[in-house]
Amino acid sequence: MAGGNTAVAGDVVAGRYQTVACERLTLKAYAKVNLTLEVLGKRDDGYHNVATILQTVDLADTLEINHADELAVECDEPGLSGDRNLAWKAAEALAERVGISPRAHIRIEKKIPAAAGLGGGSADAAATLVGLNRWWGLGRSREELADVAAGLGSDVPFLLTGGTALGSGRGDEISPLPALPAMDMLLVVPEDRIDAKTPTMYRALKPEDFSDGARTQAISRGLGSGTLTSAGGCNAFERAAREIFPGLARVWDRVAGVTQHPPRLSGAGPAFYCMPSSESERIRVAESLQGTGAAAYLVQTISPAGGDGAQSQIQ
Ligand code: C5P
Repeated sequence: MAGGNTAVAGDVVAGRYQTVACERLTLKAYAKVNLTLEVLGKRDDGYHNVATILQTVDLADTLEINHADELAVECDEPGLSGDRNLAWKAAEALAERVGISPRAHIRIEKKIPAAAGLGGGSADAAATLVGLNRWWGLGRSREELADVAAGLGSDVPFLLTGGTALGSGRGDEISPLPALPAMDMLLVVPEDRIDAKTPTMYRALKPEDFSDGARTQAISRGLGSGTLTSAGGCNAFERAAREIFPGLARVWDRVAGVTQHPPRLSGAGPAFYCMPSSESERIRVAESLQGTGAAAYLVQTISPAGGDGAQSQIQ
């Protein structure tokens, strides 16, 4: 964790950046949920403008960066190793930006379910940028990393820093919001996955799914008071997700049947979350999932120390 750092590559030493010789660099890449996600309209570039409140939670992948003569990405989840991983593209993009060869071995231990709406791939890409910025002793600013991050995906800039933030534009323009007090959330992740999920979900939106961002603005103004339930949020993809993910509606309705506040979709789904108000409500949710194949994760909202969405430790 950041608090346990003994040395940080890229620390400013006497006005110069200095790479600290070290064996390996380990980073935590935290998942996100969308407390709100409003889609405002389609843009000329094919993207959509959104208004969203993003929040990191303490479910995290672990990245380990080691010395290597060339780029390698090795993931413990089958099918996510090599150049298909967004971490690979992040390493290449950063190396290209600064004009060096991408030499590093990146090992990823997945805990965040992939392609579920929890930002897992984007978090790994963000952690790769933060980690390699230190590993290669580049000393690039957070703004420059955010610029590289935006080229990798709309969620990547937020995950560089994490915490609580307002996302606008295509989701890549980030304004920090007051940190929420730690809150328990139960993430529910149905088994369903679809190919090309994000573009498919945007294409499935109907006029009634669009909104003007007013709810997101109102909630972001009230966040300082620290009270929030899933009922307060909103997500433009909820209607479409119930139609497109074959098993989602069944799991959702079971959970909704035993919780005080309705669940809320994260991202374009199929993961959703609820905020059970008691241990007995948590147990009822867990029981309601039996036989559905859905996984449940009890997590807490987190504001990574020092606003570092990808926390690192050098060994
Ligand atoms: O930014 P990201 O790579 O996650 O986007 C994947 C696809 O999702 C885009 O090519 C676009 O079709 C769609 N998208 C969108 N509006 C956004 C974000 C994504 O239409 N704000």
